Amino acid sequence: MKRKVIIANWKLNGNRSKIKKYIKKLKKLNHKNIDISISPPIPYLWFTHLLTKNTNITTTSQNMDINISGPFTGEISGENLKDIKVKYVIIGHSERKKYHYENNKTILKKIIIAKKKKITPIICIGENIQEYIKNKSINTCKKQIQYLIEHSNINILENTIIAYEPIWAIGTGKNATTNHINKINNFILDYISKINKDIISNIKIIYGGSVNYKNSYEIISQKNINGLLVGNASTDINKFKKIIESIKINN
Ligand code: PGA
Repeated sequence: MKRKVIIANWKLNGNRSKIKKYIKKLKKLNHKNIDISISPPIPYLWFTHLLTKNTNITTTSQNMDINISGPFTGEISGENLKDIKVKYVIIGHSERKKYHYENNKTILKKIIIAKKKKITPIICIGENIQEYIKNKSINTCKKQIQYLIEHSNINILENTIIAYEPIWAIGTGKNATTNHINKINNFILDYISKINKDIISNIKIIYGGSVNYKNSYEIISQKNINGLLVGNASTDINKFKKIIESIKINN
């Protein structure tokens, strides 16, 4: 069985004092069977790393540039992230697509760099509300994955995490049903294994979109769901603790 992973995506929230208190409480939890990774705003990644040293809590970057070094004012490179011991990098989050013009081309470039730097990419895919209503969820997710394969090759997906995050579920309080998530995840697994079934064992598929402690167990206990990408509910340690506990209790 693949080890479950939970990513706490704080987005643009948090500060040093909050992180200190948060990590202190988080460290008291027993979560040996789950990988937990914290994704604070980028300036706090190193600070978070220092506070979580000698634990199995890791850090995740919310973004990364398509360049490694040079005259790119304001950017953060894969080289930088490697240097500060970041384990995962979220690539192509729908908020970055919406507000920062991220597209298939930049997403692919970032995945290639992350893999070169041995940072595990968390590749976000998912449909918008219109596509969902028109029953086009599978088609949209397929196109997003297909682009990556066609513009590199199937191995691009090896040792990655695919985060299925329906855009309509992010920050809305309306999570997708496990039925819907399973439909998408099974399609993805089937689609990839038809091209190369050997890499399936090295790919995790996680779910994100209005995860909270009430729905976390039902979602994560599905056979083909290997973890959760939690936004809003991860910014409050008490809510996040409940998510972790809900999973542990039922493990
Ligand atoms: P949410 O965000 O849990 O607040 O819906 C999830 C995400 O954007 O990764």
